[in-house]
Order: sequence, then C-alpha cells, then structure tokens
Amino acid sequence: MDWSSRVRKAVHRLKPYVPGKPIEEVQRELGLAEVIKLASNENPLGPSPKAIEAAKKVLPEIHRYPDDSYYRLRHKIAAFYNVSPEWVLLGRGSDEILLHIVQTFVEPGDEVVFSTPSFVMYDILSTLMDAVCVKVPLRDFVHDVDGLLDAVTERTKIVFIDNPNNPAGTILRDRAVRSLLNEIPEGVIVVLDEAYAEFVESPDYPKSLDYVKEGYPVIVLRTFSKAYGLAGLRVGYGFARPEITQHLFKVREPFNVSSVAAAAAEAALDDVEFLDRVRKTVWVSKRLMYRGLEQLGLRYVPTEANFVLIDVKRSAKEVADALLRKGVIVRPCEPFGLPNHLRVDVGTPETVERFIAALREVLREI
Ligand SMILES: Cc1ncc(COP(=O)(O)O)c(C=O)c1O
Repeated sequence: MDWSSRVRKAVHRLKPYVPGKPIEEVQRELGLAEVIKLASNENPLGPSPKAIEAAKKVLPEIHRYPDDSYYRLRHKIAAFYNVSPEWVLLGRGSDEILLHIVQTFVEPGDEVVFSTPSFVMYDILSTLMDAVCVKVPLRDFVHDVDGLLDAVTERTKIVFIDNPNNPAGTILRDRAVRSLLNEIPEGVIVVLDEAYAEFVESPDYPKSLDYVKEGYPVIVLRTFSKAYGLAGLRVGYGFARPEITQHLFKVREPFNVSSVAAAAAEAALDDVEFLDRVRKTVWVSKRLMYRGLEQLGLRYVPTEANFVLIDVKRSAKEVADALLRKGVIVRPCEPFGLPNHLRVDVGTPETVERFIAALREVLREI
C-alpha cells in the first residue's frame, strides 16, 4: 500500500532536515582515516570532563525514570540566572522546546514570522503545525527588525529570532531588540533563541532575561549543545514568565530529558573554567580563520557564534564535496538560499589550519 494519501498534508509540505554528515560515515564511505567535522556548530573541545564524570555516576541508576520535576537541574539553572524555578523550561535540546512552543500556541492557519535564512527548525515545526510561515529576508546578513515588524499581522502568533543567527552568526543588539519588543502587538510571543549566546563578544548583546523580567512576552531559549559541549545528550533550556510556562509544561512529555543528560548538564553549568576555555579557544580560532580567509581573498560575515559564513564565489556544494574528499566536513548553504556560501565551524587553531590548507588546495583545483 502507498501510504502517501494517508499522510497529513502538512507532512507532505516538509523538507526533511539535512544534518551534517557524521565523521564515521565519511571515514567509511571515503576510506579516510582522519576526518574533521566543521559542519554542525559543535563544541571543538568536547564536553567538560566534569560533565562526563557526572553522567558516568548516574549510569548505575538508569533503570529508573528521571525525577520528572528535574528539581536539581531546574533549581540550579534558576539560581545561576537568578530567576524563579517556574520560569525554567527544559527540553530534549532546545529543539524540543521549540516544538512545545508551536504545539502550545499555533493553530492551523496562524502565522509565524521568522527571518530567512535562519534556524531551519522554525520552518519545519511551524509547517508541521499547519502554520503559515512568513519569511523576512535578512538585510546584509542581519535580522531586519522593520521587516519583521511589517510582517506581523493580526494572525501572527510567534516571531522566532535566532540571536546569533544561524547561519550568518550576526546578532541583533539590545537597542534593536527593544525597539522590536516595544512595537510588537499584544498577543504575539517573541522567541529569542540564543543557542550561541556564550560565544558572543559584543557588549551590546541583549541580556534577554531582563526582557522577561520587565514583562515583555518573550521566551528565551538556551542550550547545553553548543558552548557546553553536550549536543549528543540533548538538553536545552529556556525562560519565560509563569503565565507562559504553565501552558508549555502541559504539552511536555514526562521524563523528556534523560537522567544522564540532566546530571551532565548540572555539572556542565558549574564548570565555569571549562566554558571560559571554550570561549577563548573559539575567539582565537575565529581570528585565525578570518586571517586565513583574507589571505585566500574570500569574504566572510564576521561572526558572534562558533561558525562563520564564507562566500566561496562559486558553487559551495562543489567546494564542500571537494573538501569532503580531503576529510573536511563543512556545510554548503544552498538549502539556506545561499548557493555560494559555506558555513564552517571556527573550531580550534589546529582545525582552522587544516581547513584553510584544504580550502586553498580545493580552490586551486576547481
Ligand atoms: C539557532 C539554533 N537554535 C537551536 C538549535 C538546536 O539546538 P539543540 O536542540 O541541540 O539545543 C540550533 C542547533 O543547531 C540552532 O542553530
């Protein structure tokens, strides 16, 4: 039987998410021993050793379900950010909190506004809920605040803003976000998705919890997947006022974060020295990356995240395929509507060197 006719129309409209290729797959397919992956905005230093230790400690207890209130993790995050525990959202990655948000607020036909390009899950999850996705082009690779506001109508439920933006790595500064929040009509929720917040260097980056504290209709999302290095465990968190979180809590599956993930996240949050090392490594690497790209005569978008968007002035897909054959996995941005751009993790000084050397060869060859 062909099940297509039984599948929801919304599912037919979905384009599957294309993740970065796993290292093992590239090693297997191309017979390469040494492969580096710079395609998924991951932490170049791995997880905090303290998080690994904490995860190991929980293993003898994994026959039990987790504490569904996530008392310890919730209170730890609340204390760290100085908010009430009822403000704290927890999910299987911030992806799952995004899902909770659309499941809670979006009726079929409601409009959801976001930039293009931006994090692909806004499109996928909103489409799944039969929302109308209203996409506003970035302006010079930065969110266009006026464009986003113009796109809001009386049917808009949510505005998603990834800050920093994925794939551009640019940010909206505090003044710009405030001007958007001051203009946003009542009843529209603004989701500030700050998956890369810890990498931002600009002093004008918003302290978004202040918006929540000041009573703006904002949900702030953070994650343990990036700077904290726990992408494989899947833990994300967020903040909103109880008027909002009480509804989001209703759609959450019980035990949505594993006990191992919760324990590792608690330890990761405490390991401030590790976080500091990660940030400094990324900041050093990104400057090396800029220098390497300038020497190759390539333009890039200065980034506040742990990845950089590079204009390779030819088919980025071809460049990415050629890099892959040299054991370097990067992300061609054609699916983001940028056929000549690659998104590349800034990684460590060593991976920058390898990437730039491989790119230099590839640009000579094609
Ligand atoms: C902007 C943005 N938000 C959210 C996520 C999801 O992260 P996770 O579900 O691992 O927390 C990502 C992942 O790449 C992202 O780029």
